[in-house]
Amino acid sequence: MRKITIAVDGYSSCGKSTISKTLARTLGYIYVDTGAMYRSIALYALRNGFVKEDGGVEKDALIAVLKNIIVGFSSDGSAMLNGENVESEIRGMKVSNCVSYVSAIPEVRHHLVELQRIMGRNGGVVMDGRDIGTVVFPNAELKLFVTADAAIRAQRRYDELKANGQPANYDEILENVKKRDYLDETRVESPLRKADDAIVLDNGNMTISEQNAWVMEKVMDICQNLE
Ligand code: DC
Repeated sequence: MRKITIAVDGYSSCGKSTISKTLARTLGYIYVDTGAMYRSIALYALRNGFVKEDGGVEKDALIAVLKNIIVGFSSDGSAMLNGENVESEIRGMKVSNCVSYVSAIPEVRHHLVELQRIMGRNGGVVMDGRDIGTVVFPNAELKLFVTADAAIRAQRRYDELKANGQPANYDEILENVKKRDYLDETRVESPLRKADDAIVLDNGNMTISEQNAWVMEKVMDICQNLE
């Protein structure tokens, strides 16, 4: 069966990575978590003092050192920043609170989009993010746009942080989820929006297995029509 490109976009904490990882494993495809790439750059900005009190970022200083920031993934899928495994650190609230500012910087986006296109150039990839179906791979054979109510998404993020032994406060997380939705949707450069040809998946009331079955059906439909 021909290997296709699958773009999974949508709001934060709505399970895009769970869907994408399962799909990639089932199909034997590469999985790319582009949010982890933006988070890794945000972590670099934090560590180097480029993040201001309000979460805003010293753009020019960050842009000047972009070429020194190497982001990627280890063989087990952990996010790597200049050779260091930062998978756990990039999921914490410090990074979550400033990543939307970092991801709104056009130079950061251009740099990462170029890398993402290289990672997915041979197809057989499931890439999740905000702009995969609209900017990175506008010709992807399957585009999913995932959404769920903000309160449900905040609860999921809370459970995930707790399960990883990280500090978590539900109200703070809900506020962060809503703020990131707003920043992602209103930024000038590649705002979060559904591609015209994307299929909407509202998984607020779906179990993981219902969701997996729903997604696999869409993949099979597309692949059969390509044969
Ligand atoms: O999916 P996530 O929550 O880990 O993403 C972290 C941030 O990165 C989020 O605020 C939006 C941004 N992002 C983006 O702008 N474009 C992408 N392709 C992926 C993530």
